[in-house]
Amino acid sequence: MSRDIWDPDVYGRYAGERSRPFFELLARVAADDPDYVVDAGCGSGELTSELARRWPRATVEGFDSSPAMITKARALDAAPRFTVADVTTWHPDRPVDVIVSNAVLQWVPEHRDVIERWITALSPGGWLAFQVPGNHDAPSHAAIRALCGSPAWSDRLGDYDRGAPVGPATEYLDLLGGCSRVDAWETTYVHVLDAPKGENPVLNWVSGTALRPILDRLRPDEAKRFTAELAERFEEAYPARDFGTPFPFRRIFVVAQK
Ligand SMILES: C[S@@+](CC[C@H](N)C(=O)[O-])C[C@H]1O[C@@H](n2cnc3c(N)ncnc32)[C@H](O)[C@@H]1O
Repeated sequence: MSRDIWDPDVYGRYAGERSRPFFELLARVAADDPDYVVDAGCGSGELTSELARRWPRATVEGFDSSPAMITKARALDAAPRFTVADVTTWHPDRPVDVIVSNAVLQWVPEHRDVIERWITALSPGGWLAFQVPGNHDAPSHAAIRALCGSPAWSDRLGDYDRGAPVGPATEYLDLLGGCSRVDAWETTYVHVLDAPKGENPVLNWVSGTALRPILDRLRPDEAKRFTAELAERFEEAYPARDFGTPFPFRRIFVVAQK
């Protein structure tokens, strides 16, 4: 397994904004009384616990490839069982009634194959629900790409951009067209972000997610310089208001019933 780039505490800084799509995804899953529910790429497990709250009679499990995330999840006072596993190799040992995966598949280039395997792994009438960010073209990501490709950083980070990690919603409808029902939609949230004085809120947000692989490749002094330069670009791209910093964020949702 590759090294762990995740920091659950940094990821958790905007937990309210990050969890909203999970609940909006889950609202479209009409499973009444599932027996076995899996949260694939469960992170630090708080949302897996919500699955256990919604379906108290089910066996609920969460897995994630990040040992740091699973260590934090296991410290929760909650019912789910948490394990370290990778979505590309995970196979359940019995049919699953609900698979949920929130903000994970954008990290997995081969996720279309994973989605097909998950449908096979479902029980008849079982549900798959996933949500992925669709923000590859957002100013935040354009700024990260531009900085990585700039003369100061291209030697180290010039290979950062590997293209949009997810497809349009219609692509997932086509992929899941054999299911008895499929529902796909998009939402652009306009989060209003706060940050402690002197910090850039958009930088704080991406430090928990999109910047992880970049920061992992830099020495601490380089990371400090890189993030300072990025903060300047973010200040221009996302002007602060008196009430906070508006941060539009597009997400794609897919729910299918086998
Ligand atoms: C943005 S976080 C989302 C965590 C959680 N689902 C939530 O909504 O709070 C992305 C998670 O995906 C996990 N992840 C990334 N690639 C993975 C893979 N190949 N297999 C399993 N988990 C993966 C990361 O470790 C991280 O915990």
